[in-house]
Amino acid sequence: MAYDLLTFSREIDSEVTLRTLRARDATALYALIDGNRAHLREWLPFVDDAQDVTDTQRFILEAAQLADDQKSMAAGIWDGGILAGVIGLMEISVRNRKAEIGYWLAAEHQGRGLVTRACRALITYAFDTVRLHRVEIYCAPENTRSRAIPERLGFVIEGTLREAEWLYDHYVDNVLYAMLAPAWDASS
Ligand SMILES: CC(C)(COP(=O)(O)OP(=O)(O)OC[C@H]1O[C@@H](n2cnc3c(N)ncnc32)[C@H](O)[C@@H]1OP(=O)(O)O)[C@@H](O)C(=O)NCCC(=O)NCCS
Repeated sequence: MAYDLLTFSREIDSEVTLRTLRARDATALYALIDGNRAHLREWLPFVDDAQDVTDTQRFILEAAQLADDQKSMAAGIWDGGILAGVIGLMEISVRNRKAEIGYWLAAEHQGRGLVTRACRALITYAFDTVRLHRVEIYCAPENTRSRAIPERLGFVIEGTLREAEWLYDHYVDNVLYAMLAPAWDASS
């Protein structure tokens, strides 16, 4: 195998760096989640699972095991050296050569294209290095900021999954966006 999800790292430009989360990132990651609970809770289901830093340590250790098993990868997004959010390559299916991308950013780092740039780098890694054929992104229909990312990157809407995600006390639909490797190669 020509790649290692555990050691994934990309310096995208002078501002943005991606790197697989490590145990030493737990304190910064917990502080970021704790400082952004209301912002993240609107669209993400995991926020209440992070009650203290040991929960975040456990998440990073479990993510490392999943990366070792070639099932998923969770990378931090660093903005000028400061941890600003997380991007993940999830639900990797080697057999079907497909995976999903998920992401979040602390509120104060929004609006500068960090996640769009991070997605571009991770999608290129997924197609060129992991040799996937298909990358999916799922967004709630009303999550316009999130939907703007796959739309900006040329993903195609393939449909809406009804009540596909449980968010604390209600279901949300998921719009399925997908990109295929030949279309990505042709656009980049
Ligand atoms: C979804 C989320 C990551 C989007 O963050 P974001 O800052 O809007 O996304 P980006 O980092 O790609 O930035 C895009 C913005 O930067 C601007 N921008 C500046 N430079 C840019 C560049 N080089 N490339 C792309 N966009 C750029 C864009 O115009 C856009 O601005 P706008 O919001 O005024 O239209 C963020 O809102 C979030 O974490 N929300 C909560 C969690 C969540 O919903 N996660 C996704 C679940 S599906």
